[in-house]
Amino acid sequence: MKLISKSCEGLHGEIKIPGDKSISHRALICASISDGTSKISNLQESEDVINTLNSLKQLGINITKENASYHVEGKGFKGLKESENQLYFGNSGTGIRLMSGLLSIQNFSSSLIGDESLSKRPMKRIIEPLSKMGVNISGSKEGTLPLRITPAKNINGINYKMPVASAQVKSAILFASLGAKGDTKIIEKSISRDHTERMFEYFGATITFSEKETILKKTNKFTSQNLEIPGDFSSAAFFIVAALISKNSDITLKEVGMNPSRIALLDKLVEMGGNIQVSNFSSFGKEPVADINVKSSVLYSCEVMSDDVPNLIDELPILFIASSFAKGISRFNEIEELKHKESNRLKAMQEGLDKMKIKNFLDGNVFCIKGMGKDYKSPNFLAETYYDHRIAMSFAIAGLNSSSSIEIASPESINTSFPEFIDLGNRLGCNFEVS
Ligand code: S3P
Repeated sequence: MKLISKSCEGLHGEIKIPGDKSISHRALICASISDGTSKISNLQESEDVINTLNSLKQLGINITKENASYHVEGKGFKGLKESENQLYFGNSGTGIRLMSGLLSIQNFSSSLIGDESLSKRPMKRIIEPLSKMGVNISGSKEGTLPLRITPAKNINGINYKMPVASAQVKSAILFASLGAKGDTKIIEKSISRDHTERMFEYFGATITFSEKETILKKTNKFTSQNLEIPGDFSSAAFFIVAALISKNSDITLKEVGMNPSRIALLDKLVEMGGNIQVSNFSSFGKEPVADINVKSSVLYSCEVMSDDVPNLIDELPILFIASSFAKGISRFNEIEELKHKESNRLKAMQEGLDKMKIKNFLDGNVFCIKGMGKDYKSPNFLAETYYDHRIAMSFAIAGLNSSSSIEIASPESINTSFPEFIDLGNRLGCNFEVS
């Protein structure tokens, strides 16, 4: 497959953004361990989420699709059955880390694997706290996949100060805590997304979470629920930036998740001069949603502080693109974590920005981008993406402001989180050509 993103005449129209990836994983897992049948609508049908769904099926959970909704027959916290085969999580750090937590409290052994990229990602960050709780979990010598979990006699709640701000690590601990003796308390350095906490509360857990502290009290069961998944803010981010940097644009994105731990990008873009209006606030379960209207804007540089990083970690690549078409030097503090994502995103973005002839450099641990302003046109080039969906979509958006086009290498990776990206983009007026 080949994807060429050509310069465009502006974006217009209204679309509904497909379901959120983080919330889709959590909805499937929580429904599988509740006490009855849950109905989930607007589930994200990406490769990452389908891999989690298939692993739950392999573990004995009955999941069927009727019309546009998924029906999940829950079996309780410890009701999963041993899988005959290894569990495969593809590209998904969220899938494998959350499921490791849950598999830690089952009475059988599990082996968890993933694709080439996931096989290189750090798993010590979950192995350490889970082991402290009494879980029998091990990875390779280097602390990577495959993960092996065997039944443990005693699993205890934990009082844990997180060394890295990571919702995946926090969530692995919370899922393991469902089968532990005693309460669990987690303290974070910076606030990471709180979808697990909100979902646990929705399914009936005794949990409190505020600022940087989460406390899960002994909970015996989850009660099945019907839920609708909000649109994925991280998917919406690509079209938000696309409309801001393309002339004559005016788009509306419907029912997008507005969880405060996810939308720092929006505040940043508004600070930069973005013409963005949010309206029609409502909520899906415990998650806020709203419509987002975006118009072409003149952008100025931004500064991202280290405390904001977890909130916009997945949006940094597309914020780098926005900064390239802004006036002035943008500064991004302590974005080290970007090196441990589906690819080394800092390196992949630096390489692409160099090809865009956008000056970028590291000043100590501050990454700087010298923006060229709204009239800048990127030269044509082939963007290497390291099979990373967010790198591919970021350069596809940059192509809209190119002298003629940017070609995207391995665009299949986009299916990891946003299979509808090309079709929805073209519906709004992007000029994506697939051959
Ligand atoms: C996610 C948490 C983040 C994010 C990832 C999804 C989640 O990862 O980058 O795309 O659903 O919990 P970390 O928690 O590892 O930073």
